[in-house]
Amino acid sequence: MIYQEWEDGFVVRRMRADDAKIVQRWYGALNPTACDLDIALACYPAEEKGFYIGEYQGEIVASAIRIPVCEGVYYGSYYYVEEKWRGKGFGRRLRDEVAAAHVGNNVLCIDAHDDLETMNQRKGYTNGFKVVLYKGAPKRLLREPPAGLMINQVSDVDFNKVIEYDNECFVGPNSPYRRAFLERWFAIPGGKSLTALDKNGQVIGLGCRRPALEGPHHLIGPLYAKDLDTAHTLIQILTADLDVDKDTIWLSICEPNEDAKQMVKDLQLQDDIHMLRMHLNGDPKEFKKQVFALTSIDVCGF
Ligand SMILES: CC(C)(COP(=O)(O)OP(=O)(O)OC[C@H]1O[C@@H](n2cnc3c(N)ncnc32)[C@H](O)[C@@H]1OP(=O)(O)O)[C@@H](O)C(=O)NCCC(=O)NCCS
Repeated sequence: MIYQEWEDGFVVRRMRADDAKIVQRWYGALNPTACDLDIALACYPAEEKGFYIGEYQGEIVASAIRIPVCEGVYYGSYYYVEEKWRGKGFGRRLRDEVAAAHVGNNVLCIDAHDDLETMNQRKGYTNGFKVVLYKGAPKRLLREPPAGLMINQVSDVDFNKVIEYDNECFVGPNSPYRRAFLERWFAIPGGKSLTALDKNGQVIGLGCRRPALEGPHHLIGPLYAKDLDTAHTLIQILTADLDVDKDTIWLSICEPNEDAKQMVKDLQLQDDIHMLRMHLNGDPKEFKKQVFALTSIDVCGF
C-alpha cells in the first residue's frame, strides 16, 4: 500500500513483515534488538496505518512507526534514514508529511536520542523525562524474597487478572491493542514471562524476558512491580537460567524512578544509551513508580 509518492521518486509505503528484518538490522547496530517489530506488525490489521517504509531508487532507505497503544495515545519509534541518504528530506517527508497526519491530534510519545531534542522541539514536541537503557551481567543477588510472595509462570494465572494489574501500570487502561500485544509477548519463543502474587493471590508484579535476534543478549520488559523487593525477586527468577559470565541483560528505566535506579545499581548494570521521552499534543502522565523496566523502547515504551 503506497501512502505518498514524490516527483524525485521517493515513496512512502506500508511496512511489510519482510521489511522488519532490514529495520531491525539498522537498529541492531545501536543495541541488541529482539522480535519486537515482528510482534507489533502481527498485532495490527494489514490495513492499519502507522508502519512506514521509505523507498528510493528501488532501495529501502527509511522507516518509522507511529502506533496506537491505548485510547488517544500513540508510541513512535524506528525513525531512521540510512546514512548515505540522510540530509535529503526523506526523514522529514516520511515523518512530517505522512506519519503526522495519521497521529492527528492524539498524544504521541517518543524516546528521542539526545541530538534530536532541538529538532523535535521545533516540531512542537515537549520534554517529558529521561529514559536510560542499561546493560550488564545477570548478577545473582542473595536476598530473601518478601514474605508470602509467589512467583508463577504467567500462563498459570488468569489472563484477565494479569490485564487488570497491567491496567494499573500501563499508560492507559483496558486497551485492546495492549491485550493483543501481551498475548503474543508472553509467547515469544525463548522468552519467559512471570507474575508475582501476594499471599491473597493478587497480582503485584509482572516480568518478561525475550532473546535478542543475535548474540547472548536478553531484553527485559515490561518489569512492573509493587516495590523494589518484588522487582528484584522477579528479575532474579527471570534470569536464573542465564550464564553470569556469558549472557548480557538489557532493560530501560525512567530516570525519575528512584526505585528503578536503585535496582540497576544493586544489579551493577551500566548505562548504555540516554534518551529523552518527548510528547506531541499533550502529556499522558505515563510515569508510574511500578514501572521498573519499560516494555520495549522499540515498539511500546511504557
Ligand atoms: C534523524 C534522521 C531520521 C533524519 O533523517 P534525514 O532524512 O537525514 O532528515 P531530513 O533531511 O529529512 O531532515 C529532517 C529534519 O531533521 C533535522 N536533522 C537531521 N539530522 C539531524 C541531526 N543529526 N541532528 C539534529 N537535527 C537533524 C534536519 O535539520 C531537519 O529539520 P527541519 O525539518 O526542521 O528542517 C536521520 O538522521 C537518522 O536516521 N539518524 C539516526 C537515527 C536516529 O537518531 N533516529 C531517531 C531516534 S529518536
